[in-house]
Amino acid sequence: MIAKETIDKVFDAARVEEVIGDFVQLKKSGSNFKGLSPFTDERTPSFMVSPVKQIWKDFSSGKGGNAVAFLMEHEHFSYPEAIKYLAKKYGIEIEETEQNDEQKEKASERESMFLVSEFAREYFEETLYHTSSGKAIGLSYFKERGFKDEIIKKFHLGYCLDEWDAFTKAALDKGYQLEFLEKTGLTIIKGEQKRFDRFKGRVMFPIHSMSGRVLGFGGRILNNDKKAAKYLNSPESDIYHKSKVLYGLYQAKQAIAKLDNCYLVEGYTDVIQFHQSGITNVVASSGTALTSEQIRLINRLTRNITVLFDGDAAGLRASMRGIDLILEQGMNVKVVTFPQGEDPDSFATKNSPEELQYFLDTNAKDFIQFKASVLVDQAQGDPVKKADTIRDIVHSINKIPDNIQRTVYIQECARIMDISEEVLFNSLAQLGKKEIAEAGKAQKKSQKAFEVVRSEQQVEKVDAQQFLERKIIELLLLYGLEEGEFQDMVLKEDDKGELVMEPEVHGARVFEKIYLDLQQDEVELSNPVFRQVYVRLIEEMHTNEHFTVDGFLNQVEAEVASELSSILMDDERYALHNWDKNNIFVKEKKAGMAQLVSETILSLRCHLIDKRVDQLQGEILKIEDGSHELLEEIMNYHHLKRLLSNKLNRVL
Ligand code: CTP
Ligand code: MN
Repeated sequence: MIAKETIDKVFDAARVEEVIGDFVQLKKSGSNFKGLSPFTDERTPSFMVSPVKQIWKDFSSGKGGNAVAFLMEHEHFSYPEAIKYLAKKYGIEIEETEQNDEQKEKASERESMFLVSEFAREYFEETLYHTSSGKAIGLSYFKERGFKDEIIKKFHLGYCLDEWDAFTKAALDKGYQLEFLEKTGLTIIKGEQKRFDRFKGRVMFPIHSMSGRVLGFGGRILNNDKKAAKYLNSPESDIYHKSKVLYGLYQAKQAIAKLDNCYLVEGYTDVIQFHQSGITNVVASSGTALTSEQIRLINRLTRNITVLFDGDAAGLRASMRGIDLILEQGMNVKVVTFPQGEDPDSFATKNSPEELQYFLDTNAKDFIQFKASVLVDQAQGDPVKKADTIRDIVHSINKIPDNIQRTVYIQECARIMDISEEVLFNSLAQLGKKEIAEAGKAQKKSQKAFEVVRSEQQVEKVDAQQFLERKIIELLLLYGLEEGEFQDMVLKEDDKGELVMEPEVHGARVFEKIYLDLQQDEVELSNPVFRQVYVRLIEEMHTNEHFTVDGFLNQVEAEVASELSSILMDDERYALHNWDKNNIFVKEKKAGMAQLVSETILSLRCHLIDKRVDQLQGEILKIEDGSHELLEEIMNYHHLKRLLSNKLNRVL
């Protein structure tokens, strides 16, 4: 268990904009930062970070919260993992209170898989540098390939001994459970007793998440056994999803954002060799065809991808699908093809860093030039094939979401392929129509389900009570501890000795005012989340001298924090009570705030009365006689409602 003091220190040090800035490219926007949602596939930024409130909100997915919530959401960290990550980032030493066996067992399964993988990485590194066969076989192989120590360490390369179960035994000795060794694929179990190391006799390439956790491994064989695969990878598991991982992203992310471009290569060795040549904005899709999820990872850091292809034509056509996927996300693609027989790795090894950079700069083609050159080579003088090529290019252009960019590319294509723009625009339009028709078909099918969802949403939208309850929470969060001057109606005797309601002004803190008013009417919030938050907020504000909204957000569950962040961010979005902009200054702001509070409480009370009256009227209809009491109750409510409405009007 992490000590409470450590957690406090972490929360004091962590800045939400810095934490998120490591994963999402943020741009200043007023007092906030804006960026592309890392959770959805969007092109216009709707992800906001507020340095003042120390929270973030993703308007496209609805998620939100503080720095820890972001890490849990984005990196799939558990709470302690997120704290540890932040402690590392901010150089805070972690004090742990001793864990007992029960607590150890409770640590989640995924966490156990992470821990075992982390151990494996260290063990393989250890083996590479500190065992005789590690040095003689593994390390000397890397050296032969030209990898320098610095780079070997940067990528945490390692070696797995050529013995059946040396690693598995070491892990078990250290107390790691066989279950997780198997689930991560590090150990293969055959029959009752036979267990052996998946990566036996291979040099090891650990695969890291964007934040540097070990997700899996690639292992390269060192002998010439033709039957065994040259590269072996960890199997898919709860922590390793091939299609969502890019090799080298952890080591490259800062350079990608800074240089605003990402080189995409095929394998581990390409990435490593590029780093050694000083090019660090490079990642590999490693072992799979490029996926949209992988592109999305890059899209958060830059809009520009340069895809690097081997010299052999084989596989080129298949890789073109990747280009369309990139275009679909509205990103810019360039392509570099290496000379026949070379891949990025071999080219980087044979040339100086300057030569490599020069080659990349001068050979980068935009995707049309690239497609045209490849396809035209294959189509040499064959008009039918040339037509196919053009259709192929138009198909790619059709994937580009931006109109202007599409037009520019059509012009470019017309020039390169020597065909009129008009023809190209026509076929683009036809493709568009076809897609609309197809989308229409798909929509019809799903329409029924869609309608149901929509009507439910509408109901939710017009629910005044939810709106008002949410507003109450918002007021508590924003102004709970502030003092305001409130007008209350008090029962008084007038000159003639009759009882009348008269306004009386008194000072109170906002949370007290809200609490007392709602309690007086015995109002309980109907939304379970709001109700729970309300009770906790009031309690905290009442008892905790050092109450802060930040601190409160850190205490509540992730989902609740997310909901509260939405509430807090709403005023950023709609500038609801943007006092300064509306030229309302401090003194008036207090008046405005008090008014808003009173108004909200009154509106909620009126709403509840209406609801109650409706309910009573319904009951009257059901009862044949003896409805006298009910009628009287209704009359009372009407009276109260009138009083409240009067007051509400006055407030307004
Ligand atoms: N690769 C892979 N699986 C394979 C073959 C290759 O994942 N079965 C990837 C690896 O990431 C490797 C890259 O493709 O870094 C380049 O492949 P290749 O040149 O065949 O690997 P090398 O280790 O460079 O082998 P060689 O020394 O024979 O060139
Ligand atoms: Mn190679």
